[in-house]
Amino acid sequence: MATIKAAILGFGTVGQGIYHILNEKRDELRDKLGIELEVAKILVRDTTRERVPGTAHLLTDSIDDVLSVKGIQVVFEAIVNEEPAYSYLKKAVEHKCHVVTANKVMFAKRGLELQELAKQNGVFVGYEATTAGGVPVIKTMKNILLVNDVTRIQGILNGTSNYILTKMRAEGWTFDEALQEAQNLGYAEADPYNDISGQDAFKKLMILSALAFGEQPDWADVEVIGIDGITSEQVKEATEQGLRYRHVAEVERLSDGKIIAKVGPMVVDKEHPLYPIDDVFNAVTMETNYIGTLTLVGPGAGMYPTASVMVEDYAEIIGKRAGFVVTI
Ligand code: NDP
Ligand code: HSE
Repeated sequence: MATIKAAILGFGTVGQGIYHILNEKRDELRDKLGIELEVAKILVRDTTRERVPGTAHLLTDSIDDVLSVKGIQVVFEAIVNEEPAYSYLKKAVEHKCHVVTANKVMFAKRGLELQELAKQNGVFVGYEATTAGGVPVIKTMKNILLVNDVTRIQGILNGTSNYILTKMRAEGWTFDEALQEAQNLGYAEADPYNDISGQDAFKKLMILSALAFGEQPDWADVEVIGIDGITSEQVKEATEQGLRYRHVAEVERLSDGKIIAKVGPMVVDKEHPLYPIDDVFNAVTMETNYIGTLTLVGPGAGMYPTASVMVEDYAEIIGKRAGFVVTI
């Protein structure tokens, strides 16, 4: 049986989740895909710290070391920020590796470029995990776009913000207490600025815009407001009136082709579809011409939801590469 060698770039919440799932599902993946997968390298900043027992010998801080592995074919990326992630993936693609990424900061800005480069090199880019965590919004959208035009997308795209707003309302926690717990649970970024400022939801919205419309609005034209200005008093007042705060991102293509977008808090009543979406859940509603309105709801962050869709991306890519359909 053929063996595929893979590397994991970044070994925090998401990177470790990939490693655990690949181990736990090893036999099933091998039987279903007809291919053995071996994690041959793990790239981190600090190679002196063993995060998962038995992985110290796999650690490196050099992408050249990763790509020097004989027969390396797949690179999972779960680093933070645009660089060095983009440069690493560019090298991987030029080395004819398929790549699977969770990094929306990098992908919102460089995703189209990376996909073009992958096309030129005959490899694939999986990016389901960049947007809405474990909710398969990218695959779903790809599966309807041949016939349907998406005209508008609206949703909750940041799990941390929704978790904080939920805990402030339902448990009476302060903003800081809820943020701390979101960090403990691995939902928030190591630097949570992007989560609470709305920038994380904005990046995900731009990825959806590129997929649905083939382009993004000018970033400078998009108003982005986070939840960092919402006080406990405001949440309490809304609750007393039967209302809930949600952090909502929306993008729309107008009839003249112009794309407009905005990101910010919204107060919704119980008739609104986003009213019941609590905790770390995300929700994405797509308005389309033939299907009508389609909504996906599920966990928008966390180790296993995120890592699992990355392994699904791998399975889909390998299925394509090997020329067979993955049967579940
Ligand atoms: P963590 O902070 O838990 O882990 C990040 C990992 O990346 C660490 O192992 C770190 O190395 C490594 N790293 C960071 N910078 C560099 C660098 N310059 N060079 C090499 N390695 C580096 O982050 P997460 O696992 O939570 O997130 C990873 C990515 O996945 C991010 O882009 C995030 O936005 C995205 N994501 C996260 C989700 C989540 O629920 N957490 C969900 C969906 C996407 P070291 O350990 O040595 O510090
Ligand atoms: N920090 C992000 C969130 C992780 O809370 O939504 C998932 O992209």
